[in-house]
Amino acid sequence: MSGEARKAAEGLGHLSGFGNEHSSEAVPGALPEGRNSPQRAPLGLYAEQLSGTAFTEPRAHNRRSWLYRIRPSAAHPAFTRTSNGAIRSAPFNQTVPDPNRLRWNPLPAPEEGTDFLAGLWTLGGNGDATQRVGMAVHLYHANASMTRVFSDADGELLIVPEQGGLLLRTEFGLLHVEPGHIALIPRGVRFRVELLDDAARGYVCENYGAAFRLPDLGPIGANGLANARDFRAPVAAYEDVEGPVEVVNKFCGNLWSATYGHSPLDVVAWHGNHVPYTYDLRRFNVMGTISYDHPDPSVFTVLTAPSDTPGLAGVDFVVFAPRWLVGEDTFRPPYFHRNVMSEYMGLVEGTYDAKAEGFVPGGGSLHTMMSAHGPDRETFEKASAAELRPQKIDDGLAFMFETRWPVSLTPQAARAEHLQQRYDDVWQGLERHFRTP
Ligand SMILES: [Fe+2]
Repeated sequence: MSGEARKAAEGLGHLSGFGNEHSSEAVPGALPEGRNSPQRAPLGLYAEQLSGTAFTEPRAHNRRSWLYRIRPSAAHPAFTRTSNGAIRSAPFNQTVPDPNRLRWNPLPAPEEGTDFLAGLWTLGGNGDATQRVGMAVHLYHANASMTRVFSDADGELLIVPEQGGLLLRTEFGLLHVEPGHIALIPRGVRFRVELLDDAARGYVCENYGAAFRLPDLGPIGANGLANARDFRAPVAAYEDVEGPVEVVNKFCGNLWSATYGHSPLDVVAWHGNHVPYTYDLRRFNVMGTISYDHPDPSVFTVLTAPSDTPGLAGVDFVVFAPRWLVGEDTFRPPYFHRNVMSEYMGLVEGTYDAKAEGFVPGGGSLHTMMSAHGPDRETFEKASAAELRPQKIDDGLAFMFETRWPVSLTPQAARAEHLQQRYDDVWQGLERHFRTP
């Protein structure tokens, strides 16, 4: 690991709550005291506000940060359209919505010199990026560090690495993530992805809607699931670079490019709550049954992005982390179900307890609204006959992007060579056992 990556891993600050103010300065005295936009910001810096919510949204949901930077973001030339590569955006209306259960192998290896942005490949999604509603599922496979800078006006990016460490250089400072961690880049925040290994592969949920936050805990109490203190914000770090830097902006579904005369990662100090962060999924405090029955997977929610209906998420991020199974007289793997929500599942490592084979790290499955799914035959037979001793599930890390709307595919996902044929077969051979008495 490079010195910078180590510093990013060790030097982070706790993000103790999503509504709370945080602050950091790379140079002592860069952060103004007592006001956001003094007549002259300290050290000759420019003061700039970055809004993540409307000015008028309730205090508990309001997100914004103040940036103190070498040049204001306004100092840039015109953007012009550039290739979208394999990135697609909502509305996803180029394929007929498919009720079938679908599963993909990992993305094929990209050409040499593919950076994170060029390596992004959209599977599908829902909603409308221009209405700030819905979400998209992307995968990435890259083998080169970005030299350009990217920002997404359409939504926040939840990055789930599956192979390879990433150093994220953001306007707010450096973040370091490895497989097993997640990173979140808020809407509009500029960043560059540098690879810490030869290649990097993973998943991205692009959330067009209201920002991810920690779920309420209700009767669970004041602690548990993902604890706020385990989320980490960057320490301010800036690039003082004069010279051409390509800046790519995703706006209403398309990529736009401009060549700045300086690096826009030039924020010397910041404060606010519209902030990128990381989280180690192994810190998730898993709750489950200590009596009987398999709990609904909502108990594994790490982050939730609410929609306009209370209790109904635009998208939830759910993790299936190592845990003990102790339920008595219980079919312990996930039960058979049909869900009004739509589920995209991915696997960071190991195996998942509902599938014997075919669901592999870097691959993914889509069980869209009301599609019937559950354990495959082999898993069903085994779990139905298993002796119910306490059992540790510790050989896998799976996750789910669960969304209230059906997920429609991009044409490239519907026709992909790595789309598995005959996924339905895993539920074949589930024989009848009932005989009318
Ligand atoms: Fe499911």
